[in-house]
Amino acid sequence: MTENPFVFGTIVRGDNFADRKKEVKEIASDLTSKTNLIIFSPRRYGKTSLIFKVLEDLEKKSIICAYVDLYPATTIEKFANIYASSMAKSKGGKLDEIINFIKDLIPPVKLTVRPEGTSDIEGGMEIELSRGKSDINAVLSRLYDLPERIATKKRKKMVVVFDEFQEITKIDGQEIERSLRSRIQHHKNVSYVFMGSQMHLLGRAFESKDRALYRMGKPFNLRRIPPEEFGIFIKDRFRVGGMTISAGNVAKIVDLTQCHPYYTQQLCHEVWNYRKSLGTKSVETDDITVAKEQLMRNQNYAYTALWDSIKGKQRAVLLAMAKTGQKEIFASDFREDNGLGAPSTIARAAQYLEEKGLIEKNGSQYGISDTFFEEWLKRLD
Ligand SMILES: Nc1ncnc2c1ncn2[C@@H]1O[C@H](COP(=O)(O)OP(=O)(O)OP(=O)(O)O)[C@@H](O)[C@H]1O
Ligand SMILES: [Mg+2]
Repeated sequence: MTENPFVFGTIVRGDNFADRKKEVKEIASDLTSKTNLIIFSPRRYGKTSLIFKVLEDLEKKSIICAYVDLYPATTIEKFANIYASSMAKSKGGKLDEIINFIKDLIPPVKLTVRPEGTSDIEGGMEIELSRGKSDINAVLSRLYDLPERIATKKRKKMVVVFDEFQEITKIDGQEIERSLRSRIQHHKNVSYVFMGSQMHLLGRAFESKDRALYRMGKPFNLRRIPPEEFGIFIKDRFRVGGMTISAGNVAKIVDLTQCHPYYTQQLCHEVWNYRKSLGTKSVETDDITVAKEQLMRNQNYAYTALWDSIKGKQRAVLLAMAKTGQKEIFASDFREDNGLGAPSTIARAAQYLEEKGLIEKNGSQYGISDTFFEEWLKRLD
């Protein structure tokens, strides 16, 4: 049986990834020429999928790549273990070699290698460093030289990606940033990528003059996938899934989702399922409407939970945005008509909603990320 060709909620690779050729080329070229990058976007725009594609291409050019997912790094000890494990998983050498590098850098360290899944670090094998809690900062500051060591030894370039970098700022104030900078600024063979979606945290870390990582990289703002490019992808995926769809209906889909990568895949997934259940192969205009309603019914529980999780002014701002479609949320008539209070109150609510990934800021304009949730809000009494 043909599988649903639309995937959402995981990293997409290969045929499930719409090219983003321009972005891949620009990022790969910057990293090859030793430019550090700060890649940011609202949630679920495809940062992780994109960087995996770039790393795949760079590995083909013999560049050593390490991907460090900081999402589970809730303590400094976990961060150290995740960092060491990520280096060991890079193809920068056999495990033994990397372990020797680590032991060289931090001689008295006790190091345990565990198989995947036995602690809370995900993927592949895991390294656990144990040292007295007091000097974990010292351990880390030496560990930061690991990529440069690996690259120099292998006579290759290396790229290190920190995904969900904002988590670092939550662990220990700014100590990690300071020691990271003090090491990596000397690295001659390694480029760094800092990625994340919590823009206020990333912005502060990289754009404030008083922060250690100030201007440590070139900012790269990842946007939604352009409609023409997404359209070609959607048509092709329907074809792979055994269905045809007209250009007009593709346009209707991307118009509904405003080309948001995740929500577009989600809607297409539902359209494909619905058409499949009918047993015929040509996607009709009505299918899109039916699929959208189905999707919203499926999400009703999640939307209710989201709504319950926000309070007071946050609710008021979100609801007013949905009901009026207003994007200039600080405009005085919008504030007055909806009883939202002072601009500072709206700013606080907006920051919270943005952190939760519910709204997005683009220049001076704000919009609700999930158009289906927006529709759900519009229908609230
Ligand atoms: N280039 C792409 N082509 C097709 N679909 C994509 C693409 N990029 C992202 N998506 C869709 O968006 C979803 C989220 O992608 P991904 O996890 O890479 O985004 P992210 O920006 O890293 O998200 P988060 O902010 O949650 O970490 C994917 O599961 C997929 O459905
Ligand atoms: Mg991600």
